[in-house]
Amino acid sequence: MTVSIAVAKETAAGEKRVAMVPKVAAKLTKLDVTLTVAQGAGEGSRIPDESYDEPVLLSGQTDEIYTANVVLAVNAPEVEQINKMKKGSVLISFVQGHNNPDVVEALQNNGITCFAMELIPRISRAQSMDALSSQANAAGYKAALIAANALERFLPMLTTAAGTIRPAKVLVIGAGVAGLQAIATAGRLGAKVYGYDVRTDTKEQVESLGAEFLVAKGVKAEAEGGYARELTDDEKAQQQQMLVDNMADADAVITTAAVPGKPAPRIVSQAMVEAMKPGAVLVDLAAAGGGNCELTKPDEIVTHGSVTIHGPSNVPSLLAEHASEMYAQNVLNFLQLIVVEEEGQDDVKPGEKKHKLAFDWDDEILAKSVLTRDGELVNETVKAALGAASEARDVEKKA
Ligand SMILES: NC(=O)c1ccc[n+]([C@@H]2O[C@H](COP(=O)([O-])OP(=O)(O)OC[C@H]3O[C@@H](n4cnc5c(N)ncnc54)[C@H](O)[C@@H]3O)[C@@H](O)[C@H]2O)c1
Repeated sequence: MTVSIAVAKETAAGEKRVAMVPKVAAKLTKLDVTLTVAQGAGEGSRIPDESYDEPVLLSGQTDEIYTANVVLAVNAPEVEQINKMKKGSVLISFVQGHNNPDVVEALQNNGITCFAMELIPRISRAQSMDALSSQANAAGYKAALIAANALERFLPMLTTAAGTIRPAKVLVIGAGVAGLQAIATAGRLGAKVYGYDVRTDTKEQVESLGAEFLVAKGVKAEAEGGYARELTDDEKAQQQQMLVDNMADADAVITTAAVPGKPAPRIVSQAMVEAMKPGAVLVDLAAAGGGNCELTKPDEIVTHGSVTIHGPSNVPSLLAEHASEMYAQNVLNFLQLIVVEEEGQDDVKPGEKKHKLAFDWDDEILAKSVLTRDGELVNETVKAALGAASEARDVEKKA
């Protein structure tokens, strides 16, 4: 049976990305699959329907899209759409299950096998499927440009007949994928860049980009798997003081700090903002997760004194063309793990081989990225988070 794959049109407000672009679709259709793209799905990424070449099909019927064997999306579809999916079919998208109990419930109720892109493990073999990284790269790059654009100052040092302009100081808090890209981009624009992260092993990466690493003495907050853990109160105090001193001196601050599965850590207080230079800019890439700055409002520019705080909640979407292209390539690489050649085709030419959907649950990438398997919620972290949230709701109801 040929595997049917469909690409959803994103419905979230402000979402311009699409899960499959023509260039990558052409590679996907070399497998024995039918690929249907929802009409207008690429519009936000400036991809007209006609750009998807044959054999890609276009469909204006939402029902047709959601009844495919595999549905591809950037964000989890709405419950109403998941309810249209067939039992045993597959959804591949970002889900953020811990924040979306209704979506998880719909996946369970409809017997869906859902692979959540954010759960793909950060192992070398999965690097080409790592959509968290590809989208964080886009976000970090754009964050530096937002800061540069909002500042009423030059970033680079300028020596002109009208005098010498000193380079701007840009401080990037959180040196993960997005932070490192923000550091690199601000550096290319000529700013004097400083990086900070609770994981002291990022020092080398920050320095390799020509930036200076800020160290709060005695703080090391790395947990298993290279991710950050939450800091103790004492550690938080030390970190605050070091940041207060450096922020007061910065023209632009870009915050990118995150702890997976948890609200964004609060790092920048109102007092720290008030100590910033007049006209300084803060870009908070953690806005969607609650913000690293206590004054951040998602999708707003807050002016506090003469400091502006930008809280864009979906920065990759501002770079939709390339963010979609990278996401689509991540998805294709992942699909190749589950759309596999049928056995006994040794004599068949490569382009004519039959493919089927198959899941090797011994493969770490599949085992870790699967959120629901035939409707069963199998990710322990999301299960625990949702269990805790529903218990808290019960307690609230009783009180
Ligand atoms: N395939 C791979 O091997 C691979 C791919 C991508 C990322 N990684 C690693 O995964 C890790 C997380 O990357 P990410 O970009 O997704 O991170 P993330 O988005 O989860 O977090 C961003 C950064 O914020 C930092 N942070 C958290 N709390 C902080 C605080 N209170 N103050 C300052 N900084 C704080 C984190 O240490 C992290 O570097 C990194 O170690 C990265 O190198 C590995």
